[in-house]
Amino acid sequence: MRTDTTLAIRRSDYTEPNYLVETVELGFDLDPTDTRVAARLTLRHNPDGRANDIVLVGDDSLELVQLRMNGKPLSRRAYRLADNELRIPNAPEEAVLEIETALKPEANTSLMGLYVSNGNFFTQCEAEGFRKITFFPDRPDVMAKYKVMLRANREQYPVLLSNGNLIEEGDLGDGRHYALWEDPFRKPSYLFALVAGKLVCQEERCALADGREALLQVWVEEGNLDKTQHAMESLKNSIRWDEERFGLELDLDRFMIVAVGDFNMGAMENKGLNIFNTKYVLANPRIATDSDYANIEAVVGHEYFHNWTGNRVTCRDWFQLSLKEGLTVFRDQEFSADMVGTDSGRAVKRIDDVRVLRQAQFPEDAGPMAHPVRPDSYLEINNFYTVTIYEKGSEVVRMYQTLLGREGFRKGMDLYFERHDGQAVTCDDFRAAMADANGRDLTQFERWYSQAGTPRVRAETRYDDASRIYEITLSQSCPPTPGQKTKLPFHIPVKIGLLDAQGRDLPLVFEGDLSEAPTTRVLELTEASQTFRFTGIFGEPVPSLLRDFSAPVILEYDYSDDDLAFLMAHDSDPFNRWEAGQRLATRHLLALTRAVQESRPLEEAAPGVATFIESLRAILNDTTLDAAFREVALTLPSEGVLAEEMDVIDPQAIHAARQYLRRMLARTLRNDLVAACNLNATTGAYSPDAASAGKRGLKNVALLYLAELDDTDSHAMTQAQYDRADNMTDRIAALMGLVNSSAPGKADALERFYTEFEGEALVIDKWFSLQASARTTHVPDVRRLMKHEAFNLKNPNRARSLIFSFCNANPARFHAPDGSGYEYWAEQVIALNAINPQVAARLARTMDRWRKYDRLLAQLMKKALQRVAEAPKLSKDVLEVVTKALA
Ligand code: ARG
Ligand code: ZN
Repeated sequence: MRTDTTLAIRRSDYTEPNYLVETVELGFDLDPTDTRVAARLTLRHNPDGRANDIVLVGDDSLELVQLRMNGKPLSRRAYRLADNELRIPNAPEEAVLEIETALKPEANTSLMGLYVSNGNFFTQCEAEGFRKITFFPDRPDVMAKYKVMLRANREQYPVLLSNGNLIEEGDLGDGRHYALWEDPFRKPSYLFALVAGKLVCQEERCALADGREALLQVWVEEGNLDKTQHAMESLKNSIRWDEERFGLELDLDRFMIVAVGDFNMGAMENKGLNIFNTKYVLANPRIATDSDYANIEAVVGHEYFHNWTGNRVTCRDWFQLSLKEGLTVFRDQEFSADMVGTDSGRAVKRIDDVRVLRQAQFPEDAGPMAHPVRPDSYLEINNFYTVTIYEKGSEVVRMYQTLLGREGFRKGMDLYFERHDGQAVTCDDFRAAMADANGRDLTQFERWYSQAGTPRVRAETRYDDASRIYEITLSQSCPPTPGQKTKLPFHIPVKIGLLDAQGRDLPLVFEGDLSEAPTTRVLELTEASQTFRFTGIFGEPVPSLLRDFSAPVILEYDYSDDDLAFLMAHDSDPFNRWEAGQRLATRHLLALTRAVQESRPLEEAAPGVATFIESLRAILNDTTLDAAFREVALTLPSEGVLAEEMDVIDPQAIHAARQYLRRMLARTLRNDLVAACNLNATTGAYSPDAASAGKRGLKNVALLYLAELDDTDSHAMTQAQYDRADNMTDRIAALMGLVNSSAPGKADALERFYTEFEGEALVIDKWFSLQASARTTHVPDVRRLMKHEAFNLKNPNRARSLIFSFCNANPARFHAPDGSGYEYWAEQVIALNAINPQVAARLARTMDRWRKYDRLLAQLMKKALQRVAEAPKLSKDVLEVVTKALA
């Protein structure tokens, strides 16, 4: 197989750019089939650079029309153009380059660089899209000032936007017009953006902390102005939050968000002109669910916060991606938590975030694509916008805050900006700011950046009645990952508490230190094994370990079922209260899974399960707890999370076991569940606030349990909710209940839903994804849905809603024993590869864990991977994923 590892880019190969770019002037003549870009760059030799070669990169798709240096055309002998590199050897100290390129935006299905979506122009330049627009030192450590002239037909493209401030606009005669934009801040090329087309906006003026005023705009296609309010509110909240929590202000007079229906990722933080997937902008109660509302708030926050953590201070090279992404995810998580406000609301947010980490990042860290938070090499940088860089990166940032305290963390942030505003820096620079601002040695903490894999922390406890001493011994290890056989100990903050027999927190007095006795302490584990001693403990306590999930590790401790039930009922740390329930559920589900595999009766397979269900009943009926907390407590670990707990994954057995427990729970708690549905019905106008969303969440979890009974009562209940729903949260939950049952009205409901929402692309995505992940959907059904008139492989949201939902969210059907799911997967990866390599490579990741499946499945998965690996014209993106999977 072709595995050209010589193509790999290595972190250790970093060198400074030869030339720096002072200013960039771009002139665009926009046309879907023939756009012309005239670039004028002023360059100056970098004293720290090595050669006097000007090195520019340009994509294959670029046509070089003209090249001039210092006013004169460059002869063909004065430069070299090969392998996407334009090199001008022995250039003068200062140079003005004029480059004209020709582009075909309409033919650009990769959605990188300049492309057309529904007749309008958009750009996506991170990470390496600018090279599809012009030849440029397209690397984040080259920061320049941009001036952008946009010219286009006025009728077709009435709106012309770019970064920064609008300087001038006017008519050009001949039906065309222009707009001139200037960005006052230096920026790397990946933050360049333009938008042109038929768009309308909601706008507001917003007062900033220092007395200035900014113009805020949310741009959408005509007909969507009734869906921008929540994004606008979220933007204003983000601005206020960053002022208050971090003292960071909006540095522009104008801040724009634009929604586009064709987009590879979630959104992009282009300076002053954020471009968003419509999914993270458009909302009203008719089309958006509570989680859509929450996601919009989080992503609007995320992109806004990048203005400081990403744009003002950016990355030296793409290996440092987590410097901005991990930090900005941490900031958006904190923002969302603060927006909820209550302690238990914060805990639910934390639980949601940890669920994502376990569901997606832990498997990544245990699979063939495992990489450190700061990777050492890559073939294609787009493959490294991963849950490790983002979510684990955020956990790493969170650990600074856990170790240094909120104030200490803030001091570190202040110093980081003081030192590095306007620079392109590294993860080491961030760590140094945290350490220096707090006078702490964080040398060992570096291993969180350099070592991949999820560490395991094993706890062992010993109580000595005579001395009243309680000992906790913590030991750490980390499994090998590709290219890293052995690991050194991490610096791990382990937050703990001890519960007495009444479930109260005990004061924690370290041996020999009576100075303070908090009830929660952060133990700093830095060695392979360490023992911590607590004195004055009267009676053996139950330990509450890794409170609030204080580190991204797997914590092992031999809890008894009784200990866990006790923690579930009493732990003052809501995260661990939830966690105890998940541990118990996992235990029972794994026992049931084994019984399924061995064809033993399930009734006797998990003896403690009845008691567990009683604990859930207590939580369900405990109205002192927030509805949102009760919802997450009642949700069983997903099939994906359970799969990671098994040495050999058996998707059918996991599914059967989980379904068995869901039905048993529904039967046992039937009356309580019906009551929960009634008690948590929301009345009055829809509001997405956390309390109302929590009620709907609990009600819908209860409804979907009842739907498992698949009897006339449950059919009637779900049907009634479907018919009466006045918001998408209730509507889609009811539809899910119907689709997964044998209710007589299900086909009709699906059809009505389609007809009613035919014009709402984001809702039709839900319609596809709901069917793709339904238990009744098999491979032939997905193939049939692919032929539906509304299906479109070129639109990433649509492709994800059907193909990804089936391959990633319907494990029992995707892993059909005949391998038909894998054949389907291979076909789709190959088809997408020709259209959009980034989306194809994401789908390719579905097979990451193939070696963990039972032998027959693993063989079939390997065959499918090989089929993809041997397909012609494979992109670097897909090639990297499948070769690493097969390696
Ligand atoms: N910086 C963006 C964000 O996280 C992600 C852009 C990634 N785009 C890409 N093509 N890899 O907010
Ligand atoms: Zn980001």
